[in-house]
Amino acid sequence: MNEIFVTILCLLSFGKDVTGVYRAICPTQPVEAEEGDEVTLPCHLDPPIDLTDYTSDWERVDLKEIVYSYRHKRHHYDAQKKRYRNRTTFNLDGLTRGNVTLQISSVQLDESGPYRCFVPDLNARCALNIIVVPKGQLSTSKRGDDVSTTRPPATHVTKTNIKDGENKATIAMYICLPLVAVLCIIGVVALFRRQIIRMIVEKMRGREEAKQEDEENNPEETKELKESRL
Ligand SMILES: *[C@@H]1O[C@H](CO)[C@@H](O)[C@H](O)[C@H]1NC(C)=O
Ligand SMILES: *[C@@H]1O[C@H](CO)[C@@H](O)[C@H](O)[C@H]1NC(C)=O
Repeated sequence: MNEIFVTILCLLSFGKDVTGVYRAICPTQPVEAEEGDEVTLPCHLDPPIDLTDYTSDWERVDLKEIVYSYRHKRHHYDAQKKRYRNRTTFNLDGLTRGNVTLQISSVQLDESGPYRCFVPDLNARCALNIIVVPKGQLSTSKRGDDVSTTRPPATHVTKTNIKDGENKATIAMYICLPLVAVLCIIGVVALFRRQIIRMIVEKMRGREEAKQEDEENNPEETKELKESRL
C-alpha cells in the first residue's frame, strides 16, 4: 500500500512541479521603436496566473533602474526612477491573467537597452531588448510586431541577462525533475518487487500443492523418487 501511495504521490507531483514552474515569457527579438514613440514591452507568465497579489517589476537591467513597479495591489510609483514618471502604462486587467506587459511613452534614443520583467515571489523573470532609432528611420512595415526586415545595427544594445529568466526556470526544473524521477523509480521498483515476490511465493505454493497431490495419487513413485534423490 505504501508503494502505491508513493507512486500516486510522485505522479501527482510530476504534474504539479513541472507545470508549477511559472515562466515569464518575453519576445526573443528586440523590440524596435522610433524616438518619441510609445513602446510596448510584452511579458506574460506561462501558465497564466492571477498576479494581482504579487509584486511585479520592470527594470532597466544595465542601469539597474526601476522602470515600473506593482506592489501591494497597486502601482508603486514611488519606487520608479523619475525619468519614467507619467510615461508608463500597466494594465491591471491583464495582470489577472498573468500579463505584465508594460508600455513606455515617448522613448528616447538612450533608452535602448535590456529591460527585465520580474515576478520575485514566483522567481519568474525574462528580459528583452529595446532598440530606439532616430525619427523617420523605422519603416512603417516595422512599426508594430513585424521585425523580419532589415534593421539598423544594434550598437549600444547589451545582450547580458537576456536568458536569465529561462535559466531560473530551467534550474528549478533540473532540481525538481530528478527528484521526482527518483521517487517514481523507487515507487515503481517497490511495486514490481512486491509483485515479483508474490509471484514467486504463489509459484512455490503451487508447486508444493502439486507435489502433495502427486504424493496422494502415486505415493510409491514419489517415494522411489525421493530415495533415488538421496
Ligand atoms: C506627472 O504628472 C503629474 C500630473 O499629471 C505632475 O504633477 C507631475 O509633475 C508629473 N511628473 C513628472 C516627473 O513629470
Ligand atoms: C497583454 O496585454 C497587452 C495590453 O496591455 C496586450 O496588447 C497583449 O496582447 C496581452 N498579451 C497577452 C499574451 O495576453
